[in-house]
Amino acid sequence: MLMLTATMQMLVLLALCLAATSAAAAGDVDTYSIPAFNATTGTIVAVTNTSITDLDLLFGSLSQSDQQSSRVNNSEGFLLLYRKINVWRAAAADGGGAGSLPVPGREASFNTSFSLTGSTAVAFFVLQDMYPPFLNPLGFRSPAKVTFAPDAAASGDLAAVEAGTVQAYGPYEPSVGLNVTVAPTGTVPPGRTVWIEYDAAAHRLAVHVTAGTAGPSSFRPRKPVLDATVRLAAGRRTTQNASVGFFGGTVRDVIVGVRGWSLTVERLDDQVSGGAEGRKKGTPSWVAMLLAVLGSAAIMR
Ligand SMILES: *[C@@H]1O[C@H](CO)[C@@H](O)[C@H](O)[C@H]1NC(C)=O
Ligand SMILES: *[C@@H]1O[C@H](CO)[C@@H](O)[C@H](O)[C@H]1NC(C)=O
Ligand SMILES: *[C@@H]1O[C@H](CO)[C@@H](O)[C@H](O)[C@H]1NC(C)=O
Ligand SMILES: *[C@@H]1O[C@H](CO)[C@@H](O)[C@H](O)[C@H]1NC(C)=O
Ligand SMILES: *[C@@H]1O[C@H](CO)[C@@H](O)[C@H](O)[C@H]1NC(C)=O
Ligand SMILES: *[C@@H]1O[C@H](CO)[C@@H](O)[C@H](O)[C@H]1NC(C)=O
Repeated sequence: MLMLTATMQMLVLLALCLAATSAAAAGDVDTYSIPAFNATTGTIVAVTNTSITDLDLLFGSLSQSDQQSSRVNNSEGFLLLYRKINVWRAAAADGGGAGSLPVPGREASFNTSFSLTGSTAVAFFVLQDMYPPFLNPLGFRSPAKVTFAPDAAASGDLAAVEAGTVQAYGPYEPSVGLNVTVAPTGTVPPGRTVWIEYDAAAHRLAVHVTAGTAGPSSFRPRKPVLDATVRLAAGRRTTQNASVGFFGGTVRDVIVGVRGWSLTVERLDDQVSGGAEGRKKGTPSWVAMLLAVLGSAAIMR
């Protein structure tokens, strides 16, 4: 019987919050660029309902991790940036008296682009507040008779796109994030390049898709496949930061399927000193230690 205590989960989340990043500052946006997910992609973790795993473990550089790693590879799950990204902040006027929860004052706009090498659907995710609950026997998607229902869906010649806020983690967290799922369609040469743009002022999400995996340098069609109104911060009540990355039916689908990921996020940290701290380099070794503890807990199952 595998048990992760609440304290352990908290420690892991703390570790992830404090961990390193390769973010490069550029004007008033932060830019992340990950050409491929492999053993040296130190800024990413794989999250399943039983584990949080560093990518170098997943690629089997430690032999005792192989069994756990292949289980992670074959589980549904997320590949997420270690570093949490500030996606909204409370309105300045919001006093936050006892029992009152902060009201979103400003959201961050973001642009992201990536290539899909195969025909497997992959979801771009902004996971606010928390990871989905660990150890849910039903997996990530239907713990409380709530199923994910996209707010918008559209289909083009190259891809079917569904987008919406995630409402699948039970009654306590009615709106935990954004799920933009892209499923390649059609028979035109394999590979798609995807652009997802969120304009926070307009609450507008646009998804563009073109054939091929040339990445951001390829031609971006003028007409989006999907153009929807999405309130990223709607209903947010606690933290203002998010884990950002991808969700796949298996973690391997994301590792193999996603290439050339680039993410640009509007910076909201002009009012806090913490922003600079978040961009420090170097991974505290106790992050790896916690991950190892979790890994062995999971193997004991
Ligand atoms: C491995 O990942 C790193 C970081 O994403 C990247 O810089 C490098 O090009 C990748 N290597 C291969 C062989 O794809
Ligand atoms: C996990 O999947 C990746 C991508 O296919 C592969 O390179 C890696 O060796 C796999 N790890 C294990 C332990 O199966
Ligand atoms: C996203 O791209 C649009 C152009 O398509 C640009 O106007 C906007 O400033 C970009 N936003 C971010 C956060 O990079
Ligand atoms: C994790 O989720 C999967 C479904 O994705 C389920 O089969 C498995 O039992 C879950 N594991 C635990 C420990 O809850
Ligand atoms: C994301 O959206 C897709 C498409 O609607 C859905 O199949 C999938 O279950 C969602 N994933 C999660 C983790 O909510
Ligand atoms: C959000 O992240 C920033 C760094 O990006 C950090 O300074 C801040 O404390 C975080 N806020 C919360 C509520 O987690």
